[in-house]
Amino acid sequence: MSYFEKIKNVPLKEGALILAIESSCDETAASVIKGGREILSSSIISSMTEHIKFGGVVPEIASRAHTTAISQAVETAVKDAGVTLSELDAVAVTYGSGLIGALLVGVSYAKALAFSLGIPLVPVSHIRGHVSAGYLADKDLKPPFIALLASGGHTAVIDVKDYYTYDVLGGTLDDAVGEAFDKVARVLGLEYPGGPNIERVAKNGENTVELPVMLKGKKGYDFSYSGLKTAVINYVHNKEQKGESYSVADVARSFQTSAVGELVKKSIKAVKERGYGVLSVGGGVAANGYLRQELEKECKKRGIKLVLPEKKLCTDNACMIGAEGYLQYLNRNFSDLSLNAKAYVELSGEKND
Ligand SMILES: Nc1ncnc2c1ncn2[C@@H]1O[C@H](COP(=O)(O)OP(=O)(O)OP(=O)(O)O)[C@@H](O)[C@H]1O
Ligand SMILES: [Mg+2]
Repeated sequence: MSYFEKIKNVPLKEGALILAIESSCDETAASVIKGGREILSSSIISSMTEHIKFGGVVPEIASRAHTTAISQAVETAVKDAGVTLSELDAVAVTYGSGLIGALLVGVSYAKALAFSLGIPLVPVSHIRGHVSAGYLADKDLKPPFIALLASGGHTAVIDVKDYYTYDVLGGTLDDAVGEAFDKVARVLGLEYPGGPNIERVAKNGENTVELPVMLKGKKGYDFSYSGLKTAVINYVHNKEQKGESYSVADVARSFQTSAVGELVKKSIKAVKERGYGVLSVGGGVAANGYLRQELEKECKKRGIKLVLPEKKLCTDNACMIGAEGYLQYLNRNFSDLSLNAKAYVELSGEKND
């Protein structure tokens, strides 16, 4: 009997132990999650310091780092969870979106492990993982709710209708918000990753630099961060050409206020319009202290329940892959050994080459 024949009808367990693996970018992460809601362990080995001097993640360096870190990340996650490999019920792995070479390390490892243990292999979308971080942050979170996704490659307001159905209300027409943070940081001479550095520097800003209003006059839930980013770049270049000084802190503060303001405005609007009364937030930019503070303020004012995962669950991690992996496991979304990595996976969940 083939591997897939053997696992495709395994009986499902409600409190299943899922080993999750994430290797889509520069973090090699593994985690054991119980019943989709309880974190038993989380191990992350990052190659970030190797990328800083290049101003962004270098795919080949990230892939090589995954190959040396993956065994240790998985062993640590299993050991810290206090379980044995034979107790695991499934292996969930990020198969996209992300860097192909990086993803392949996690996918190959997960395939080998699932095959050798004779348990299901569950393919997980990284982006759905960011949304599912909410289920770990609030054990009572249940659809329907509105999710704000704010990460390095995505910006979207999503109507999470049930555990599996996403209605994407709006997204970015160009740059993602995290990408804009990183590019603006670069022009301001701040190190990669830009988001945390902009946040740090913005705290010292006192004055406002005039920046354009995003998609002025347009209704709906779309975002456009390219214009905002370009306005900052033009401002800085103008000052430099004229030999005039400017305050990096003021520019960082003004950019952050505008960038975050749009995320808050549109996600609150969606909660009001859909009438769910619940907002859950995910993605690396959701670690931004100013965004968290503004969301808390606005949600409190309007009686909206806010689900704000702790910062380490917003940036890339394997716990969120385990949370989403459990949902896919319950749906019997098992893969055979032909599972491949995908550079891009649709937000709605459809696969796309
Ligand atoms: N405190 C912060 N403030 C603003 N941005 C932040 C903060 N911390 C991290 N970020 C941004 O979050 C992004 C990283 O988030 P994440 O790890 O989810 O992105 P990714 O995995 O590369 O993209 P995606 O999840 O869309 O595939 C970077 O752009 C980074 O600058
Ligand atoms: Mg991410």
